[in-house]
Amino acid sequence: MNGRHFLNLADAGGDAIAAMINDAQDRKAARRDWPKGRVDADAPLDGRVLAMVFEKNSTRTRVSFDIAIRQLGGSSLVLDAASTQLGRGESVADTARVLSRMADAIMIRTDDHGKIEEMARHATVPVINGLTDRSHPCQIVADLLTVVEQGKPLPGLEVAWLGDGNNVLHSIIEAAGLMKFNVRIGTPQGYDPEDAFVSEARERGARITLTRDPVEAVAGADVVVTDTWVSMGQEHVHNKLAAMAPFQVNEALMAHARPDARFLHCLPAHVGEEVSEDVFEGPQSVVFDEAENRIHAQKSVLLWCFGLLP
Ligand code: CP
Ligand code: NVA
Repeated sequence: MNGRHFLNLADAGGDAIAAMINDAQDRKAARRDWPKGRVDADAPLDGRVLAMVFEKNSTRTRVSFDIAIRQLGGSSLVLDAASTQLGRGESVADTARVLSRMADAIMIRTDDHGKIEEMARHATVPVINGLTDRSHPCQIVADLLTVVEQGKPLPGLEVAWLGDGNNVLHSIIEAAGLMKFNVRIGTPQGYDPEDAFVSEARERGARITLTRDPVEAVAGADVVVTDTWVSMGQEHVHNKLAAMAPFQVNEALMAHARPDARFLHCLPAHVGEEVSEDVFEGPQSVVFDEAENRIHAQKSVLLWCFGLLP
């Protein structure tokens, strides 16, 4: 095996995530105002090829990894799973072994987290989780970078999550345990995150609070986060949107957070559902910094996978 897999944030651990955030800030500062396709001065991934496999739609993950590897001196290719043999039933194991012979790293976005674990078992190059139904670790490296850039240290940070207990929330909870911050989660009955993420983060010392009261979730928060109420691949469950409605992030709810609180959303957003237009477009929203930071964060993830960050 050449390099390291990044399936979950815990694969890297807290020290490596801190190193990723630092490196991302340094590289971002060093290329300010450069054309986006210009290679970083040290071209640390010169000649490396990243194969990206998509079994679900993507804008940010696809573009950010493509630009990230180019800025590091490498190149990428995209496999739309439906038009590959994977889409006709070739096994994940064989796909992993073939791609390992042809590319230097694999990024995959899929549904079942078990598939990405199987890919990692059979690949001999790094496998990166570009989102599964269970988690979205690459997104959260970008989110943490965004929060730190806003002058908010991670230890002791109070993060509020509103809405669905989904893949993005799972990775936030995992990050809380690793980076020592707290999460207050406001979800309707039936939409809690998986217990395993909550108990593991608590064991690592994070305070994770589950509530049905959106105001309790947001009160005094430094950062307020939400995501779509219906994730890719989910059925439109009857009454789900009605159950979610009290958890919409709007100005009335934001008024309970700290006055300097920031609003995050991984995007794509459904303005008028999980977030009101005034919050999404308002001064506390840093969602487009967060989106840009996918590039800088994904560069750090790639460098870590190749053993070029501690
Ligand atoms: N936030 C995110 O992962 O966006 P995409 O689905 O566009 O990749
Ligand atoms: N929870 C969302 C995130 C999209 C980036 C989904 O899985 O569709």
